[in-house]
Amino acid sequence: MLRRDKAQHIFDRAMKVLAKGVSSNFRYWGPEATPVLARGKGARVWDADGNEFIDYRLGWGPIILGHADDRVNEAVRMAIDNGTTFAATTELEVTVAEKLVAMIPGMEMLRFTNTGTESTMHALRVARAFTGREKFIKFEGAYHGAHDYALFSTASSPIAAMGSRTSPIPVQNGSGIPRGIREYVITVPFNNVEHVERVLKSQGSNIAAMLLEPCLGNIAGLEPDPDLLPQLRKLCDEYGIVLIFDEVKTGFRLSNAGARDTYGVIPDLSTYAKSLGNGFPVAAFGGKREIMDIIGPGSVTHAGTFGANGVAMAAANAVLDTLAEKPVLADLARRGQRLKSGLDEVLSEYGVSHQMSGHPNMQGFLITEKPITDVRGLAHHDAAMYAAILDNLYQLGVWAEDDAREPWFLSVAHTDEIIDETLNKFEDAVKLAVK
Ligand SMILES: Cc1ncc(COP(=O)(O)O)c(C=O)c1O
Repeated sequence: MLRRDKAQHIFDRAMKVLAKGVSSNFRYWGPEATPVLARGKGARVWDADGNEFIDYRLGWGPIILGHADDRVNEAVRMAIDNGTTFAATTELEVTVAEKLVAMIPGMEMLRFTNTGTESTMHALRVARAFTGREKFIKFEGAYHGAHDYALFSTASSPIAAMGSRTSPIPVQNGSGIPRGIREYVITVPFNNVEHVERVLKSQGSNIAAMLLEPCLGNIAGLEPDPDLLPQLRKLCDEYGIVLIFDEVKTGFRLSNAGARDTYGVIPDLSTYAKSLGNGFPVAAFGGKREIMDIIGPGSVTHAGTFGANGVAMAAANAVLDTLAEKPVLADLARRGQRLKSGLDEVLSEYGVSHQMSGHPNMQGFLITEKPITDVRGLAHHDAAMYAAILDNLYQLGVWAEDDAREPWFLSVAHTDEIIDETLNKFEDAVKLAVK
């Protein structure tokens, strides 16, 4: 077993002053198992006891260039000497926005925010204001952040409470969300265009937006059927609905232009956070000029004291320059594919029935006998076997979440040698689990 003395001591202190000892619910793994981290560099992290891990959690996605990337850190170091928060536009903010518009097809205008939660919340508001409608379609299993509107039928919701596939029930995540909010959300299964068509036939004229993760970044990166996104695009055009891609996990990760490039469909609006700052808090939402243009004093509120602050802009500027200079994400996908094929081979060799999933840069696997295409399919995956393998792997110094829903994230710092080391250790972890 890995040492945990120091981590436990720190976490005991944490439990006294932080609710459940953490600053985000998903980080809490119980009073004696919650990790305490000390530092990260490149593809590796070290915990409070000095245990070293190859990191595939990567802060749940943001670390696209590797932890403590020298170029991003240097840009931030220089920015803080200039002061960071002025409640005013800066030239760097304009420069970063220009780079985003140049990099992302269909991105004509945007606003900066600080988190993915803020981005999806504001994108929804803008879509409502633009269409004059109030409801929106949310796909089961997707996570769009912690605001009230989107906390329905996520990957953490009990599947048994979601009702039938033909008549899904929006399942509220936890207490504290006003009951009335449910009126505004229509949950639909992922990868089921026929169902969406039926919903639109009866309610299409009341729906402002269709908000979706183009691939399910909160369910092992499950990808859309080839016709899903083109069909949704068509339906949104037919019914005057704003198509919003939540690219908080896919943006600046699958490719420079994100999921629209990978899957060939351009949404009306999209939201970004995570990889845009390589670990620094920066986010954005934007898209068609005619939609974004309605934001403004007295018309549609978007505000934020820290929006486009100097640290956020310096980090984003360095990330975008790094991505633009060389095809680092395409190279990463090649290594990601090596990892994916290697994991697949090991699982097959040891007779573990499984399904590989996701894009090479944000991938996963599910231990299952039957194909899984949406959150409901998780009812028949073997969560315990997955956790057993991943817990063994953690003990061997490779850290991906032991919950199959959270994908394995790769960074530019994950070299071929690191992939080889991972695959060797993965084989040992599987061998132990199937014994
Ligand atoms: C797809 C997606 N959207 C939105 C969010 C919320 O982002 P944040 O945690 O920055 O508020 C997340 C967070 O994991 C996410 O995965």
